[in-house]
Amino acid sequence: MGHGFAVIHPGLEDVVAAELAGFGIEGEVVPGGVRFSADAARVAMLARTMRTPSQLLYELGSGTARSSEALGVLIRSLPWREFLQPQAELKIEITSRASALRFKDTVSRALTAMIRDARKGAFVPDRGQRPRHVQVLQVRIVEDQVTVSLDAGGDLLHKRGWRTEAGRAPIRENLAACMLALAEWDGTDALYDPFCGAGTVPIEGALLAAGRPPFQGRNGFACDEWGKGKPVAGKARAGGRSPAPAPPARPAPKAAPKVASGQMVFGSDHQAQAIATSNANARRAGVTVPFRLLDVAEMQAPAVVGTIVTNPPYGERLGVSVDEVYATFGRVLRERFGSWRVLFLAPDRRMALKVDERVERVVQFKNGGLSVGVWTVLA
Ligand SMILES: C[S@@+](CC[C@H](N)C(=O)[O-])C[C@H]1O[C@@H](n2cnc3c(N)ncnc32)[C@H](O)[C@@H]1O
Repeated sequence: MGHGFAVIHPGLEDVVAAELAGFGIEGEVVPGGVRFSADAARVAMLARTMRTPSQLLYELGSGTARSSEALGVLIRSLPWREFLQPQAELKIEITSRASALRFKDTVSRALTAMIRDARKGAFVPDRGQRPRHVQVLQVRIVEDQVTVSLDAGGDLLHKRGWRTEAGRAPIRENLAACMLALAEWDGTDALYDPFCGAGTVPIEGALLAAGRPPFQGRNGFACDEWGKGKPVAGKARAGGRSPAPAPPARPAPKAAPKVASGQMVFGSDHQAQAIATSNANARRAGVTVPFRLLDVAEMQAPAVVGTIVTNPPYGERLGVSVDEVYATFGRVLRERFGSWRVLFLAPDRRMALKVDERVERVVQFKNGGLSVGVWTVLA
């Protein structure tokens, strides 16, 4: 059995590990992700199904290489023919730390040549065709230990397919899913995002509640092509994973729908454009969510109990101070959402305290180099 690696923003690894545990997979949490035992078909299934990771990688192989010759032997031993796609553009990403092979450009050139060599004659080339998509190969070199992995998604997994329109500061869809997981919201009570922007949190929630995959309208995954290459008889495969997987079938949804899609999910925003965008995104995702045009000062609890998951504005030009928006949010929560659970993003404790003095940080993670906190208000 080979290995998979689920990538996530540093700080959110436990959230991804918990989702993997739901599939019966116990992984090893390391900075930036979770490593687990799986064959290629399982990794492909997870890429098409999981909500929280930003990438799923399948390790083609690993080994020690102290020279470019040794690297060549390792590279040539991997099962390229089953996994590389003739019509895809190959993108190689190399990270190297404390290694004798630390010169990335040299490694990249050597790898490209070796892979070209390894691909030779393996596929019937489709001449004149433009690459259909990008296939991403990741090479990680740490102290002469080389790990070569393929990205099962091809494109990052927050790209679900339905959010073709977004506002100015959208949260990535998989991060919205992480927030829902941190709030332990499972679709059995109401969900409300009063700063809904492009509708990301409510739409992710509606798909989760309906037990539907997060990907609606996405243009495929790199792993759709795995196993379609033609293995060349008689060629040795020393260190790589084999045999090639059959293209995996789309799995059945894990849990039965708990509520009808969107029935208990709500969103609002004070910008008309945000509501229009949210409605259009929800239509593309195939969920019905009532989005309302409301200032946060006007929000009302749509149910007696429920969960608020939201990312309030930050660093936007609002005409009013952001501090004031956070303070209004907190006041309305205390007045009208007494028995609700609340989870929100804030850049720092000072801003979080504007909402309520009883806030507690649930987790801190890095988003685009910036540190962001997920906060909850304790009753
Ligand atoms: C950071 S964005 C939310 C992004 C959203 N999660 C998404 O993925 O698109 C903050 C949103 O808060 C809205 N907003 C700002 N001030 C508001 C207020 N006083 N009342 C309601 N919405 C407000 C903005 O219009 C913006 O859409």
